[in-house]
Amino acid sequence: MSGDERIAVIPGDGIGHEVVPAALRVLDEVADFEYDHVEAGDAVAERTGDPLPAETLEAVTSADATLFGATGETSADVILPLREAVGSFVNIRPARTYPGVDAVQPETDLVILRENTEGVYAGIENRLSEDVSTLTRLVTQTASRRLGEFACDYVAADGTNEFTIAHKNNVMRVTDGLFVDTISEVAADRGVDIDTAYMDAMATHLAMDPAQYDVIVCPNLAGDVLSDLAAGLVGGLGLLPSANVGAERGIFEPVHGCAPDIAGEGIANPAATILSTAMLLEFLDYDDAAADVRTAVESVLADGPRTPDLGGSASTEAVATAVVDRLP
Ligand code: NAI
Ligand code: MG
Repeated sequence: MSGDERIAVIPGDGIGHEVVPAALRVLDEVADFEYDHVEAGDAVAERTGDPLPAETLEAVTSADATLFGATGETSADVILPLREAVGSFVNIRPARTYPGVDAVQPETDLVILRENTEGVYAGIENRLSEDVSTLTRLVTQTASRRLGEFACDYVAADGTNEFTIAHKNNVMRVTDGLFVDTISEVAADRGVDIDTAYMDAMATHLAMDPAQYDVIVCPNLAGDVLSDLAAGLVGGLGLLPSANVGAERGIFEPVHGCAPDIAGEGIANPAATILSTAMLLEFLDYDDAAADVRTAVESVLADGPRTPDLGGSASTEAVATAVVDRLP
């Protein structure tokens, strides 16, 4: 372990202040990084008027990677600009089940590759009059192509060599037409098999038979919704990590938000954030450490202790301690 890497750490709001420290305890055991602790979100906005202070942006754009917890109502003003600032064009969201964790669909083992820069999250909204508001859905060939290329590399590396594009090109003919056509062309050039599915129909298929999917490539909003659906299939949002990558710098964060309903109680499931640190470790080429973290989390999910969302009664800290204890 070189220990040269610098990690920006943003707990954010709510349970971010519980799950991020828990994940850092695990990370500290397996790597020797330098940390830059900075603020973002509702609390700092309330104090200073700015949810994303300049020093936070600077810390993230100069760090090798960022560990992000979750922010609240200011999230769109925080995580969207951060993803943009590091040039991340894809959000990787794996969803799988674990022995010992009750799941609605125990056969689920899939990865969502979510377009991270455009679609309806590009922020092009207008209030034209008292009555009328509009939103422009941005889809470019450039972003679709780089997502397609990333997806091809991803499925080549994982050995499946195929993916499914989720879309709605029967209705959004121009934008999702471009999205599907561009990614299909890239896949054809690369010899990767693709399937396509209407995203609404896919929601039903995911609920009833998720085993038919391995890698799903989708526009921004669809990826947001489908990954929360996938979380529901495998045991909840407390389990889903994510990686904003595609660029030199990555931002690693649980899929969940700041969970105001349980914030401050010390019972948030830290697994999603700890698993996000495993993705961070992999991104920085600490593959062995990443594998150790995943194995330790799996072991704790199998035997307990477990937080209340998984039917247990353990605290966030107790779960983190158990994960640390099971590291080699
Ligand atoms: P949420 O993900 O915060 O919570 C949804 C439900 O899942 C809640 O019942 C919560 O208690 C539970 N949950 C989430 N994470 C959990 C964990 N680690 N352990 C146990 N239970 C967990 O989504 P919600 O309620 O829609 O949004 C709350 C706030 O979070 C909003 O202000 C929203 O804008 C923000 N948010 C921020 C995100 C981000 O920072 N990237 C992403 C999603 C939402
Ligand atoms: Mg979401």
